[in-house]
Amino acid sequence: MKKIAVLISGRGSNMLGLAKRCREERWPARIVAVISNRPGAAGLEAAAGLGLHAEAIDHAAFAERAEFDEALARRLEELQVDWIVLAGFMRVLGEAFVNRFAGRIVNIHPSLLPSFPGLHTHRRALEAGVRLHGATVHLVTASLDLGPIVAQAAVPVLDGDDPDRLADRVLAAEHRLYPMALRWLVEDRIVVEGQRCRLRDPREGEAQWFVADPSA
Ligand code: GRF
Repeated sequence: MKKIAVLISGRGSNMLGLAKRCREERWPARIVAVISNRPGAAGLEAAAGLGLHAEAIDHAAFAERAEFDEALARRLEELQVDWIVLAGFMRVLGEAFVNRFAGRIVNIHPSLLPSFPGLHTHRRALEAGVRLHGATVHLVTASLDLGPIVAQAAVPVLDGDDPDRLADRVLAAEHRLYPMALRWLVEDRIVVEGQRCRLRDPREGEAQWFVADPSA
């Protein structure tokens, strides 16, 4: 049984989705901890409500970024986690941290990377006039939002969308995408070749993307 830690900073809807799927489908992995860098994160209480171990490591209590990274790394080593799952975790993790857990950190980003790394992706997608937006699950490397892409969901941009409406539809796609991609990773079904990830089984080649139903 693989051990997962989910790192959050806010409401934690992706974390909750993962937690429910882990239970329902008898996953080969379990969430051993939900950790937030913000003590007030709503997701912490929600995680505890599901019976998960939830704790905060407050980044504001550390003078240097590297000290926070070190405290977090130690805790994750203590917990002996196999996978570190970033789900709305709003801190950039330094190179030393990423190298310490190389190949075992995964993130979900609300855009079709490499378009729109960073913040405010929905507003920027609308401003850029793209007709397809979406979400990406990727492995984490030292460059922000640029690790190998595990899976993507495309979400059509509709006339009349504003950033909130678009964000809601992207989030619904994220809730489908993240459990699917994480399961492949913990089951060791993903092969990483440079920037590309593919499923080991060639018959599953097209499973790594989907287009969300605009009316959903
Ligand atoms: C999601 O859109 C995720 O892609 C981004 O932050 C948001 C987190 O939402 N990194 P939640 O906390 O999982 O509800």
